Amino acid sequence: MIVETLINEKYQVSSIKYSVYKKEKIHNTKYSIRNTTIIDLGAGTGTVIFALADTLYKKNKQTKLVAVEIHPLLYFLMQVRRLLHPYKQHIEVVRADMFSQDFWKKIVHQNKELIIYLYIGTTYMNKLKKHLSKLAPKTRIISYMYAFLGWENMLVLKKVASQHAIYEYRLDK
Ligand SMILES: C[S@@+](CC[C@H](N)C(=O)[O-])C[C@H]1O[C@@H](n2cnc3c(N)ncnc32)[C@H](O)[C@@H]1O
Repeated sequence: MIVETLINEKYQVSSIKYSVYKKEKIHNTKYSIRNTTIIDLGAGTGTVIFALADTLYKKNKQTKLVAVEIHPLLYFLMQVRRLLHPYKQHIEVVRADMFSQDFWKKIVHQNKELIIYLYIGTTYMNKLKKHLSKLAPKTRIISYMYAFLGWENMLVLKKVASQHAIYEYRLDK
């Protein structure tokens, strides 16, 4: 159900432009644990995470949302958006490099039931594979626009409409 909501939100909101990539350490150390968590790896201005938060808030859900972003201004913008959001106690905005070991250890592996969402290019996706494949088998990985090369056997859903494409993977498939 949550995955469907996520996919629908992504179809409804328009994607944003981005430019600056930098390697940074995790600046946000506060972190809480709940049952289902959706992590947006490279959340930008929070287009997806906040649209999702609107829906989950209306449905009175307890899902935790985590927006991970390396760019300081985008991170700051999301912190402001978070403060103004009625669902804010369920949203965490983390400034981190999605490729750092520290990030996976301190943030991602702390969650029990996980949905990873990403909209990044295939080079980054390939680089992330070694981290993603260590996650619990029931983890769902949802990629907007690009497919993971070599993961065809783990693909459970492919949805393509005009310029949009969504791929869902499960490690236990
Ligand atoms: C195409 S945007 C995706 C925005 C949003 N997730 C969406 O679906 O609309 C990709 C984002 O990844 C961020 N990013 C790039 N490298 C990163 C890294 N190493 N760690 C964390 N975020 C990164 C960029 O700053 C950019 O905001």
